Amino acid sequence: MPSEELFTDEDDSVNEILVLGQALVTGILEGKPTTAIQDMIDAGAPVWFQDDDGWSPLHAAVSLENESLVSSLLQEGAVWNLTDNLGNTAADIALSLNNEPCYRLIRDAGIRSELILQLLSSRGSGSVGLDAGSLILKATDTSALGSTAAFLTSKLRYVEDENGQEICLLQSEGEEVGVMMGWEREIMHVTVQKLCVGHENADIGMKILNVGFGLGIIDSMFQNLPVAPSLHVIIEAHPDVLQHMREQGWYEKKGVKILEGKWQDFIDKEDLTDAGGFDAIYTDTFSEEYRELRDFFAHVPDLLASPESRFSFFNGLGATNALFYDVYTQLSELDLSDVGIDVEWEDVDVAEAQGVDRWGKTREYFAMRLYRMPIGKMKVNVD
Ligand SMILES: *[C@@H]1O[C@H](CO)[C@@H](O)[C@H](O)[C@H]1NC(C)=O
Ligand SMILES: *[C@@H]1O[C@H](CO)[C@@H](O)[C@H](O)[C@H]1NC(C)=O
Repeated sequence: MPSEELFTDEDDSVNEILVLGQALVTGILEGKPTTAIQDMIDAGAPVWFQDDDGWSPLHAAVSLENESLVSSLLQEGAVWNLTDNLGNTAADIALSLNNEPCYRLIRDAGIRSELILQLLSSRGSGSVGLDAGSLILKATDTSALGSTAAFLTSKLRYVEDENGQEICLLQSEGEEVGVMMGWEREIMHVTVQKLCVGHENADIGMKILNVGFGLGIIDSMFQNLPVAPSLHVIIEAHPDVLQHMREQGWYEKKGVKILEGKWQDFIDKEDLTDAGGFDAIYTDTFSEEYRELRDFFAHVPDLLASPESRFSFFNGLGATNALFYDVYTQLSELDLSDVGIDVEWEDVDVAEAQGVDRWGKTREYFAMRLYRMPIGKMKVNVD
C-alpha cells in the first residue's frame, strides 16, 4: 500500500500519517487483533490522531471496553485528555459505560503526565519553563476568569439576586458572569466545621488565616464561631473587594487584620510570620492556577502552628469535567504529601444547592455534583 510518491514532500507525508491514524481508529473499532494494531503503531500510525468526530484510538478502545488495549495505547503515548467533538475525553466514555478499570488507567496516565510536567518545569531555568499543571482548565482562557492579572484589574459588582442572596458579578468580554456564588455556602459551612470544631484553641479563640475574601462567606463563619478568632488575617488583592470589605466594616472588626495584596506579597513577611503560626488556614483564590496553589502548599507547613492545626483550600480546579477534577484532586494529595501534609477528603453534595437557574447567568465553573473537601494536617513523625 505505501507508495514512494507519498513521501516526496511534507504535505504528502502528513497526509500519509493521517491516513495511518484513521486506519488505526478504524482497525480498533473493527476489532483487529493485537498484533495487527501493534504493527500499525510500529509503522507510524499516530496514537494522538483524532478522526472527524474527534475520536482518538483511545476513545475507540474505551468504547469497546478493551482494558488491555487502553493500557497499551497509553504506553504508546496516547494522550489522556483529548476531547471529542462533544467534549468527552476517553475517560468520560469509560465513566458513562461504568467501566472503572478503563477510567483508572486513563486517570493515572493523566496524573503521571502532569507530575512529569511539574518535574520538568521545576528543573527548568526558572522563569521560562513549561507551563506545567496549568493547562487543562486555563490554557485557552486569557479572560479575567482565567488569569490573575486580568482578574485583578477587572470590575466586580456585588448585587443581591432575586432570592436576596448576595452574589458577585464580573464583567468579562462584554457580559457579566457570577464569580462568587452563594451555593458555596454549604461547602464553606462544612469546611469551617472541620477546620475549627474540637480544635484545642477553639475555646480561647483560634488564629486563622484566609486567603481570598470573595463574598466573605467563610470569613463571616469564622467570625461567628462560638469564640471569635483571637487573630483573623485576611489576604485580599482585588480593589473592588477591598472597597466592599471597607463598606461592610471589616476593617474595624476586633482581631481582624487585612493584608492588601496577593499572598505572594506577604508570604515571607512579618505580617504573617509574626502570628507565630495559625490554627486554621484556608485559601480560595479565584483565577489562580494549580501551579500557584501548589506554590502555596509549600508554605503551609511553615504557617501552621502545631500538629493540631488544619488546612483546607477551595478544591475547584478542573471541576468542569469529572476526569480533570479527579486528576487535580489526586495531584493535590500527592503534592501536599510531598511537603509533609496528609489530606483527608470528604464529599459534600452541592447539586441541590446549585439549583438550576437560581443564580441567573453564571459561568459553570463548578459542574460536579460532589465537592471533594480537603482537610490537611501535618504528618505525624513516627520515628
Ligand atoms: C482488545 O483489543 C485487541 C486488539 O484489537 C484484541 O486482540 C483483543 O482481543 C481485545 N480484547 C478484548 C477482551 O476484546
Ligand atoms: C493535556 O494534558 C497535557 C499534560 O498532561 C497538557 O500538556 C496538554 O496541554 C493538555 N491538553 C489539553 C487540551 O488540555
